[in-house]
Amino acid sequence: MSDQRPILTTRQGHPVRDNQSLRTVGERGPATLENYQFIEKITHFDRERIPERVVHARGAGAHGYFEAYGTIGGEPASKYTRARVLNETGVKTPMFVRFSTVAGAKESPETARDPRGFAVKFKTVDGNWDLVGNNLKVFFIRDAIKFPDMIHAFKPDPVTNRQEAWRFFDFVAAHPESIHMVTHLKSPWGIPANYREMEGSGVNTYKLVNDQGVAHLCKFHFIPKQGVRNLTSAQAAEIQGRDVGHATKDLYDNIAAGNFPEWEFAVQIMPDGPNEHLSFDPLDDTKLWPVDQFPLLPCGRMVLDRVPDNFFADVEQSAFGTGVLVDGIDFSDDKMLQGRTLSYSDTQRYRVGPNYLQLPINAPAPGVKTSTNQRDGQMTFYVDGVGENKHINYEPSTIGQGLREAPKPAKEYHQPVEGKLGRYQTSRTEDDYTQAGVRYRSFEEWEREDLIANLVADMKECPEAIQLRMVWHFWHADEDYGRRVAEGAGIDLEKAKALPPLPGRAAPHKRLAAETYTDGTQAHKVAAE
Ligand code: HEM
Repeated sequence: MSDQRPILTTRQGHPVRDNQSLRTVGERGPATLENYQFIEKITHFDRERIPERVVHARGAGAHGYFEAYGTIGGEPASKYTRARVLNETGVKTPMFVRFSTVAGAKESPETARDPRGFAVKFKTVDGNWDLVGNNLKVFFIRDAIKFPDMIHAFKPDPVTNRQEAWRFFDFVAAHPESIHMVTHLKSPWGIPANYREMEGSGVNTYKLVNDQGVAHLCKFHFIPKQGVRNLTSAQAAEIQGRDVGHATKDLYDNIAAGNFPEWEFAVQIMPDGPNEHLSFDPLDDTKLWPVDQFPLLPCGRMVLDRVPDNFFADVEQSAFGTGVLVDGIDFSDDKMLQGRTLSYSDTQRYRVGPNYLQLPINAPAPGVKTSTNQRDGQMTFYVDGVGENKHINYEPSTIGQGLREAPKPAKEYHQPVEGKLGRYQTSRTEDDYTQAGVRYRSFEEWEREDLIANLVADMKECPEAIQLRMVWHFWHADEDYGRRVAEGAGIDLEKAKALPPLPGRAAPHKRLAAETYTDGTQAHKVAAE
């Protein structure tokens, strides 16, 4: 039977007749330099890696689609937003999703105790919309200028090249706003069982804008129809002994078996404005919006039904950013969101290259025509459509050719802004403990036990100054929480309680309001205090 397989060629299209042997002078002689076939093969190989992501390097991705319900919490979605992706029913908006861990390198274990990245690209009829979030719904810090310091403390030590618990807690101890996230992270919620059985959240606060130009503040969440499942440290260690890529395997196996993971997409909404009656700042991403005050309003569903044909092309080269919004969805003044928005496209121009948006994985859906006057740069793959006159790569043109501006929406949203330019601490209430305490008490006892055991092990790695300050924080969140960590790690609770407030921070006042929250999927409804 004749061999029907395609013929191997070089990139120049030349057939390769011998892929086994270098061209040499005689059987045992030196190789020659004009051997183009060999040089092309090796030099391309030498360039196979691009820099890994500076954070979230380990990940897996899948393709799928989004279907809008056309309603938000039962009301027409158009009441809140003119974004067509949330209004038009019966449309399957293509999506690509990348899940990740944060601190580990590209091939690090997926059992890591780490937040999970949950980055979503909606390829909508109005162009791309990216939501770059995590599974824990909150974050460690609320001011973008702190991010590089935080990541330095969480990534491996520059001397030992190991993640060191004392460096992590050295940073955390100086940031009470991180205690809420740390309480999630050190509990079983810090190791989701896989990528399918976890929540997702945009974390930062955005705005929905309707066609009257009226804005509401909002938060976006993905609720897994599969439910939520987390691991204890012991369960994770057992899995890691067998497999460092178990979550990718779980995702790929389930999709291959036709067991497509699905999430409900829900939004929390509040009026735009200072919302001064609230005991937390809605622009502070270290806080949840309690769901009894701001219910999760369903507005669509996301299904993942196809794994990438090639990991590098789709997953490694994928580029998500918080600046990628469509008309009807806008930025809020959440300081983290503002800072992140610079960072993503900046790093992607470096990591992938200046034309990263021409790659199929990052380009808008095929039906969406991109027409820019951006030209050239490394790896230009095509020139955008410019109309009849290909000379005109500028705008405006007096002879009325080239590209034109899009029509403006009937009512534009103009955000009123006033204030004195300066450097401000963000939190309005400075209550960084209530939600951490509510979270602690919301855990089931096995979760609390795992949390305490993990923190006790970490505290034993820390010098006394960090131990005392951390117990002080835990005790202010919940007295039982502080006491159990202190007892477990042999830390003097009375000495910790006697510490003064942190320099530059107000004395903690917790439990400002009788607030509750649920995490949306679990039955962790906490009674009001
Ligand atoms: C000021 C704060 C932050 C900065 C400066 C920042 C910066 C970055 C950078 C540079 C990357 C690598 C992107 C790439 O190479 O393509 C990244 C990835 C990522 N970040 Fe952030 N980040 C910040 C906060 C956050 C927060 C609060 C979240 C979650 C809510 C988050 C979620 C993610 C995710 C999910 C990815 C991975 C995206 C992917 O899968 O490609 N980041 N971030």
